Amino acid sequence: MALLEIKDLCYSYADGDNRKVIYDNASASFESGRFYAITGESGSGKTTLLYIIGGLEKEYGGKVFFKGKTIEEIGLTKYRRDHISMIYQNFNLIPYLSPVENIEVALDITDNDNDKSKDHIIQLLSKLGIDEKAATRRASVLSGGEQQRAAIGRAVATGSEIIIADEPTGNLDAHTAEQVIELFRDLAHNEGKCVIMVTHNERFAEIADEWLCIDQENKKIVPARAKQDF
Ligand SMILES: Nc1ncnc2c1ncn2[C@@H]1O[C@H](COP(=O)(O)OP(=O)(O)OP(=O)(O)O)[C@@H](O)[C@H]1O
Ligand SMILES: [Mg+2]
Repeated sequence: MALLEIKDLCYSYADGDNRKVIYDNASASFESGRFYAITGESGSGKTTLLYIIGGLEKEYGGKVFFKGKTIEEIGLTKYRRDHISMIYQNFNLIPYLSPVENIEVALDITDNDNDKSKDHIIQLLSKLGIDEKAATRRASVLSGGEQQRAAIGRAVATGSEIIIADEPTGNLDAHTAEQVIELFRDLAHNEGKCVIMVTHNERFAEIADEWLCIDQENKKIVPARAKQDF
């Protein structure tokens, strides 16, 4: 059984008098221990898909199963708290808290068996290139790249089985971006996480175990490599 399965997903929204269809019976499945990349044109529905998988967008047709149960059966709040870590396109850090405090708040909310010590958090952030000074400074005064790395640290710290990342390397220099990709690969291959990353960077998508892409014409989620063969 897949860890996460999307079955016959339909999603549309009102666009004036019309309905704009983003997904029409789209399906995909995701396993533990694998690193997935999702690409697609701007506006094709990547963030929407992550919000659906992440239990944040409720107005959709079809089903999302986590370990064989629909996420509604589990309860969206519980599902989000216990199983999902999300790295948003705009980070969503609490601006007046430091990276360390942002992580502490997230650890307080989740029930997982995490190491909640400040030393551990500082160590994790330092692995992501945030020194102790930046780690304890208000997030609102950090650079975009630092905020992004803090958001990645927060997602990793809570220890959820699924890590969802929306364009996580967008604000990073090439070297830090490589490190983030390495970290995701490591989390999948050595810690058994299911990592799902939206990216515009095809080179990073190539590195992933599976590369999926949003097929705007058919409104489906398709393997990118097979699509290139047509
Ligand atoms: N509820 C809604 N109401 C209006 N528009 C919506 C709604 N949901 C999604 N959209 C639109 O659907 C399209 C897909 O949005 P989405 O944010 O998922 O795209 P994306 O692939 O993440 O794009 P980007 O690469 O620019 O981040 C966009 O044009 C967005 O404005
Ligand atoms: Mg987006």
